[in-house]
Amino acid sequence: MAPSMHEWDAETNLFAHSVIGYAIERLQLPKDPHWGALPAEQLAEVLAPTVNPDGIGGLEALRIFRDVLMPACRPMDDPMNLAYVATSPSNAATMFDLVVSASSIFAGAWEAGAGAIAAENQALRWIADLAGFPSTAGGVFVSGGSAANLSALVTARHRYEQRHGRPARWAIASTEEVHASVRAAARVMDVDVVTVPVDDAGRLTGPALESALAAHGDRGVFAVVATAGTTNAGAIDELDAIADVCAARDLWFHVDGAYGLAALCSSIARDRFHGIERADSFGVDPHKWLFAPYDCAALIYRDPAVAPSAHAQHGTYLDSLDRGEWNPSDYAYHLSRRARGLPLWFSLATYGTRAYTDAVDASIRTAAAIADEIRSRPGFELLLEPELSVVLFTIDGWTKEQYLAWSRDRARQGVALVVPTSWKGAPCMRLCLVHPQTQAEKVVELLDDLSAGVSTTAIVEIH
Ligand SMILES: Cc1ncc(COP(=O)(O)O)c(C=O)c1O
Repeated sequence: MAPSMHEWDAETNLFAHSVIGYAIERLQLPKDPHWGALPAEQLAEVLAPTVNPDGIGGLEALRIFRDVLMPACRPMDDPMNLAYVATSPSNAATMFDLVVSASSIFAGAWEAGAGAIAAENQALRWIADLAGFPSTAGGVFVSGGSAANLSALVTARHRYEQRHGRPARWAIASTEEVHASVRAAARVMDVDVVTVPVDDAGRLTGPALESALAAHGDRGVFAVVATAGTTNAGAIDELDAIADVCAARDLWFHVDGAYGLAALCSSIARDRFHGIERADSFGVDPHKWLFAPYDCAALIYRDPAVAPSAHAQHGTYLDSLDRGEWNPSDYAYHLSRRARGLPLWFSLATYGTRAYTDAVDASIRTAAAIADEIRSRPGFELLLEPELSVVLFTIDGWTKEQYLAWSRDRARQGVALVVPTSWKGAPCMRLCLVHPQTQAEKVVELLDDLSAGVSTTAIVEIH
């Protein structure tokens, strides 16, 4: 007998314990060391019989997921996953994500999801307070930093148009170091990007912004996007000086803090964000460094009142919604939404905000210890003092191919995931720490391994 789709029968009960039991197992697992996607044909072969008119049964589908599909996914929460920007959700946050799924909450409108939305707003309030935003600030959890950047810029353009009318072409100002999602948002919006050069530390400065805007002649520029923690280097733009330029020109000041603004809660790095309190909007992704599972990004507006006129969807069947209430759908580009901020709220409530401070501080301290180690090693060069938890370094004489070969080899062995990047046009290694359990000693072992040079397997592979 197959479990019922909607009746809760004995079979379903057993099935539920298997599925949830597996989720608990996954939470406890030391991560599978054998990383790496299987070839598409192999996956296709396994999956071909799974979707058919009769189904294969839940337990068999679960077995395929556990034994074949999951091992073909990279464990993003492994403390030795130091590539890109990984994740490290807390136990409570991940557990509660299951509850959010089980609860079928429509968190787009207050009338449908008031309890969940109120709790999400409490979590947003914590972040807004850390940024020094006024009590009237507010926002919404969206799927990621990309959605936050796009939604903030749509709101920004709307406000500019209300105040100044519509120019022949729209533009935003930003830097080369800005995340690709900002340029993608500009493309979606058909908006030009005025690219401002960065300083030696990869930061946007007030004077550079001022002269780029003067050269551009203000034509259609409606917003400046600064970054608080660039993805590549962890650099924090000069937020306060940028706020001055934006204020003088009545430009919207958006700060992309998808990765770095998590450190607003840090006792070590909070002061590095001086000026964030003057932003019109900012984004920070709890699914990166605030210990929430995918997908969860907080978008916060200083004055949220302007966002609904840019984003609210209207239509005959939506006219009965009470627009006087806080409807999260109105603050970004979306309508239906899951209460994706609830796992963060639950985790904050479970552990307390001090645990967040300690966990973020742990990564910053470990990154600083690794930087010290690199600085002291002959043959290694630390390229930047880490502002947060990204460490960039080179090894004398190494080529891009050598970095890549080592990186692929160690990933395949399940030792660590470390991916090279470039800095000022030259290849280098990049470590990004977001897991409080990443141990400096383990990373030092990687440095020893790098010192020993490219392994034979790696050399064979690249030639
Ligand atoms: C600074 C920054 N902004 C935006 C993004 C995009 O975020 P998401 O992948 O959540 O859309 C990233 C992703 O790494 C990022 O580091």
